[in-house]
Amino acid sequence: MFLGIDTGTSSIKAISVSPEGRLLASADSPMTVSVPRPGWSEQNPEDWWNGTCSAVQTVLASIESPVVLGVGLSGQMHSLVALDRANRVIRPAILWNDVRTSAEAAFIRDTVGNQTLRRLTGNPALEGFTATKLLWMRENEPKQFDRLVHVLLAKDYIRFRLTGTMSTEPSDASGTLLFNVVDGSWSSEMCSLLGIDAGLLPPIGGSSEIAGSITSAAAAETGLAVGVPVVGGGADNACAATGAGVVSPGDTLVTVGTSGAVVSPVQTPVTDPEMRIHSMRHAVPNTWYLMGVVLSAGAALDWWRRTSGGADFDDLVQEAAKVPPGSEGVTFLPYLTGERTPHADANARGVFFGMHGGVGRAHMTRAVMEGVSFALKDSLSLITALGVNSIGAVAVGGGAGSPTWLQMLSDVLELPIRTVGPSEGAPLGAAMLAAVGAGAFTSAVEVGGAWLTDLDSLEPVASVHGVKDAYAVAYERYRALYPALRDTFEKSV
Ligand code: XUL
Repeated sequence: MFLGIDTGTSSIKAISVSPEGRLLASADSPMTVSVPRPGWSEQNPEDWWNGTCSAVQTVLASIESPVVLGVGLSGQMHSLVALDRANRVIRPAILWNDVRTSAEAAFIRDTVGNQTLRRLTGNPALEGFTATKLLWMRENEPKQFDRLVHVLLAKDYIRFRLTGTMSTEPSDASGTLLFNVVDGSWSSEMCSLLGIDAGLLPPIGGSSEIAGSITSAAAAETGLAVGVPVVGGGADNACAATGAGVVSPGDTLVTVGTSGAVVSPVQTPVTDPEMRIHSMRHAVPNTWYLMGVVLSAGAALDWWRRTSGGADFDDLVQEAAKVPPGSEGVTFLPYLTGERTPHADANARGVFFGMHGGVGRAHMTRAVMEGVSFALKDSLSLITALGVNSIGAVAVGGGAGSPTWLQMLSDVLELPIRTVGPSEGAPLGAAMLAAVGAGAFTSAVEVGGAWLTDLDSLEPVASVHGVKDAYAVAYERYRALYPALRDTFEKSV
């Protein structure tokens, strides 16, 4: 069997898949995020490692005489793991959704300039990207920064613990702002413009190439056999797309996990002249993708669920399904931790708008789901405006498990939406890359063909019962709110 391990923000997930693509076992180790100050977001890499060991042990224990042929890794993008000369973690990892680095992001924009950034990295300087976190550390924690010898990303730290090898691969390197997505190598020019020693960065291998093998120390902690190969793997969004079979143009991935993302593969690199959309290397060769990121997607509904009394998720959604599209005038902006696409504004915050005496929990739940769907539509529209069109989408993540939310996404995005099985997303994509690395298949495209089947398939209900019009009016209202509030957000920080 092949193992896929995803270092997610809300949990570490391990799955095992048979060579025929049957999901054999899966296990989760829940993770918490520490918020030492408003806008900060940290996790301890040692917790990721412990969570990995226990999830892998659980998966192995649930199968009689497990034979693991290969391990693939996926993980949250951008998060900075800082190691010293002795390979010890210097400080907690600074995560993708940490927005303490606005000054550093502005510094990069001012000193490098957007068009040079576009040429060198294909991506905008935003708080989430790793380079801003390195500059923050240099400025604010100089003593710790002086001890810095190795920079790793989340899944690459897990690889280091499993194999003793430090490396990354193109899809995760794309999220550092130090990598040239077009030519596929670290950008020495970008490093020198920022005064970052390129020697801190790990070597780059292929996503489905073997990057190392299980050491005896890791074998003792995980239960895996010594010598099992571990492939490069990929960024969680790249692996989620791979694991959903979204590897070529025309198809789009819509994820509703902690964050949300719209991922559209392209066969030649495309970068956004206005730098609102991310441009990344895919986990399959000679393929890139354009991506818009909604920082709080499932996280927004989970926040609302906890805040409104902790009802069961399904009950809450069922109640919301009875409210008509447009939530009778209630609008929610899901910018709980600022927003990446399209506003690139760390100061933005969540908003309920249009409250009236008849509004109850059900309206507000529906407004939260619609707000997240509209945020995803913002991203899809920018991708379409760059000439990359989608004829259909695959949905993955917690939100894809809700038929109500799926139909809403199809109606709002005005696209047919399907789900695929197995529906594990990122860890499944990682297991596919492991299957290629171990020689069982020649490409991730081939594995996808063998392992995936379409499950549900939904069409937008178009103008039935005026749904399309109701969403169009609600989306217009949603779009009007951010520009009206931008200055107030800024003054409120
Ligand atoms: C992508 C991003 C998030 C994380 C979530 O740019 O920041 O989607 O990858 O794990």
